[in-house]
Amino acid sequence: MTTPTQTGAARLDAADPLARFRERFVGAGTDLVYFDGNSLGRPVAAAAERLGEFVRQEWGGRLIRGWDESWMDLPTRLGDDLGRVVLGAAAGQTAVGDSTTVWIYKLVRAAVDHAVRVDPRRTEIVIDTDNFPTDRYVAEGIAAERGLTLRWIEVDTSAGVTAEQLTQAVGERTALVVLNHVAYRSAWLADASELTRIAHDAGALVLWDLCHSAGAVPVALDEWDVDLAVGCTYKYLNGGPGSPAFGYVNARLQGELTQPIQGWMGHADPFRMGPGYTPARGIRRFISGTPPILGMVAMQSMLELVEEAGIDAIRDKSVALTSYAVELADELLPEVTLASPRDPALRGGHVTLHHDRMREVTATLWERDVIPDYRDPGGLRIGLSPLSTSFDEVERGIAAVAEALR
Ligand SMILES: Cc1ncc(COP(=O)(O)O)c(C=O)c1O
Repeated sequence: MTTPTQTGAARLDAADPLARFRERFVGAGTDLVYFDGNSLGRPVAAAAERLGEFVRQEWGGRLIRGWDESWMDLPTRLGDDLGRVVLGAAAGQTAVGDSTTVWIYKLVRAAVDHAVRVDPRRTEIVIDTDNFPTDRYVAEGIAAERGLTLRWIEVDTSAGVTAEQLTQAVGERTALVVLNHVAYRSAWLADASELTRIAHDAGALVLWDLCHSAGAVPVALDEWDVDLAVGCTYKYLNGGPGSPAFGYVNARLQGELTQPIQGWMGHADPFRMGPGYTPARGIRRFISGTPPILGMVAMQSMLELVEEAGIDAIRDKSVALTSYAVELADELLPEVTLASPRDPALRGGHVTLHHDRMREVTATLWERDVIPDYRDPGGLRIGLSPLSTSFDEVERGIAAVAEALR
């Protein structure tokens, strides 16, 4: 028997202009329901070929010559590609390498040191209580290291930072504001343009963590006049486990900031191996040590898919997928509450459903090859990677949640 919702999924898949991309991911044709593309994206099938080719031709064939021939520039070349395809950033402002955590350390340290140098009264970092743990921990460490104070914005874990809250928190003492574009718990999509303007009106710099938006939600770093941004590439950019992160430093700030991990790869002339450190020009000075080239190979295949599909079409599908998940949850999970914004304009690429038993429900689902993840308090996170997820998968997954709950 066909239920109305089954008909809905089939109809939505048939009308989906991006449906053809699904078969270009490893494993997407199986019955497994993958709801965790916001933690680790599926591999792009072409990435397997590309990685093999890299090992055989570039690493195996060119050996150490690879550095001169192409790898030295890969962090900035790939950074420019990311800037063009997903970040709304002109060339020369983005580099790939290190983890998000390390980028946060380098850019927060550089920013607060600069702010204090320009105006010694600027001794506060503004950050929200539901910011991703690594951002909070790094900010705490830097505050202790540099004698600064953290000013916390208390946020509802089902929502995120609003313009009113930020306006109240910033002032003449603010050095830097650190925010997540899409909240990891609730999927709250911050108004990055407006919040950046509020930080700037208070004379502060702003750093955006784009981990949960890059590749799923349109980003316009240059248009928003963002100062600094970071983000990982293993979620919606499908770079693979531990693939390196990116850092963005607005061109107008690059000459002003001093990064704290001044390694030889950020030197103006690394192979001169001279006695003192002279930073390279531009974004290159924010690189520290040898970049993880292998970790950059797979994400190039995903970037090609993202460019082919177009980030606006990807966002449209993301909104349709999360809206469908909310609709099904309303219908099939009456005992569950939505811990994400109901308005899709305020929601990123995932949906969090709250129930006290979600931790055990998640364990049950994993055994049944339905893979969401769990975040306290009681949150089942459903991450819907737009190019690799079908509406049918959403429907089967929510039905499995209903079954596991009962
Ligand atoms: C918002 C956010 N920031 C940072 C990180 C993690 O950074 P790292 O790649 O250094 O572990 C994550 C990982 O899930 C994240 O969601």
